[in-house]
Amino acid sequence: MRFVAPLLAAALLAPTMAYAWPWSQDMMNQPSIKPQEGLMAPFPKRSVPIQGKSTTVANRDEAKDLTSPIPVSEESLKKGKTLFRIYCAACHGMTGKADSPITPKIGAISLVDDYVQKNLTEGWIYGTITFGSAIMPAYGKPTAREDGRGSNDLSVEERWHVVNYVRNQLVKDAQAEPATAASAK
Ligand code: HEC
Repeated sequence: MRFVAPLLAAALLAPTMAYAWPWSQDMMNQPSIKPQEGLMAPFPKRSVPIQGKSTTVANRDEAKDLTSPIPVSEESLKKGKTLFRIYCAACHGMTGKADSPITPKIGAISLVDDYVQKNLTEGWIYGTITFGSAIMPAYGKPTAREDGRGSNDLSVEERWHVVNYVRNQLVKDAQAEPATAASAK
């Protein structure tokens, strides 16, 4: 009996003492900088600055004031044009003049008029592509519309390439295009 009490005490204390021994904290003490400890290390070489501007938005209204984070370069316009012809031309016409055969049936609008070229913001156009519009389906968020007419076919970058193209080259392409039977009438 005499041995039981100290043994019991040792057994009960063992976990507490083991936790307090030096090896319990070894993993924590490493050269890495922990929160609120010293200066932040410089960013690694080849990091990409994003200017701290988020393009994550919840709906079209929130997207309204965004501006294109992708510079309007020849490369961006080329990508935008290809995507426009795949995703937008069916309803809005090859050069956005609302002259595709199904334009009148679905009620798609001209994208080369002042309304889209001047009145709408870049962010609103981005939001329209992302979340869809009254009739237009969504291309950035499959669940954006109540009726589920949407896909996530276009990535954030791809959507901005399309916006860059719509606002910077679509009108020129429309003017260069010979009049089609539909647009000539
Ligand atoms: C299935 C047909 C369809 C496709 C494909 C389509 N749109 Fe539309 N779009 C419409 C219709 C219809 C409207 C006008 C009614 C509405 O706002 O939904 C419209 C309206 C718009 C508007 C005006 C929104 C506003 O606030 O008035 C913009 C900008 C636009 N489309 C851009 C695009 C771009 C860019 C693409 C390609 C990524 C595209 N659309 C693909 C049918 C389409």
